[in-house]
Amino acid sequence: MPETFIVAIDGPAGSGKSSVSKEVARRRGYGYLDTGAAYRALAWHVLNHDADTSDATAVLDAIGDFELRLGMDPDERRVMVADRDVTSEIREPRVSDAVSGVARVPAVRQFLNSTFHDLVSQSGREAVIIEGRDITTVVAPEAPVRLLLTAAPEVRAARRSAELTGHDASAVAAAMHKRDAADSQVVDFLEAAEGVTVVDSTDLDFEQTIAAVLAEIDRATGES
Ligand code: DC
Repeated sequence: MPETFIVAIDGPAGSGKSSVSKEVARRRGYGYLDTGAAYRALAWHVLNHDADTSDATAVLDAIGDFELRLGMDPDERRVMVADRDVTSEIREPRVSDAVSGVARVPAVRQFLNSTFHDLVSQSGREAVIIEGRDITTVVAPEAPVRLLLTAAPEVRAARRSAELTGHDASAVAAAMHKRDAADSQVVDFLEAAEGVTVVDSTDLDFEQTIAAVLAEIDRATGES
């Protein structure tokens, strides 16, 4: 991805990477690309076809008519599949449960990675934060800022439960750990790859985490 300044942020569920990435994008006027939303939209699309999300052939068939519309404005987070607004539906448990199976298919990853490159180059933006699981390693390994945002498992589980009010905390923690275990078999986002800076937010509040990310960006741009 030449020309566009890329900030690549990976991390597990509950690490705070989505809210932190969005807020940093807002403050700096950068674009924000939520790659997990694209994986979720594709999983939704496969389910909408009544196809089996664990069947790689069925998943690949569904890619054929997958029309994703995903903006990069951190304040306009609408996700569309063709003409259907799926913003809320892609966060439902049935999609969360299916998405790891879809993301495991190598051709799905290749397809979405090339979609991400197209979205960034067509955006015309000078800078974009790309957030996901394999951004620092596969999607944008050449990015000038590459961060792994982590937090202790119990802290991540507590944050996830706080987001999902009305759900049983231990069930939320169990579902989160299950998904991380499945996802980390596909890409390793629990350990930082070479050259990737770890930002551990276990003992940081939101503002402190934002400050740590901004400091890494400033370091790369020579502002500090
Ligand atoms: O960040 P999220 O929880 O919305 O991501 C949804 C799923 O997509 C997650 O289970 C892992 C997968 N994913 C991936 O495999 N690679 C990415 N770059 C982003 C997400």
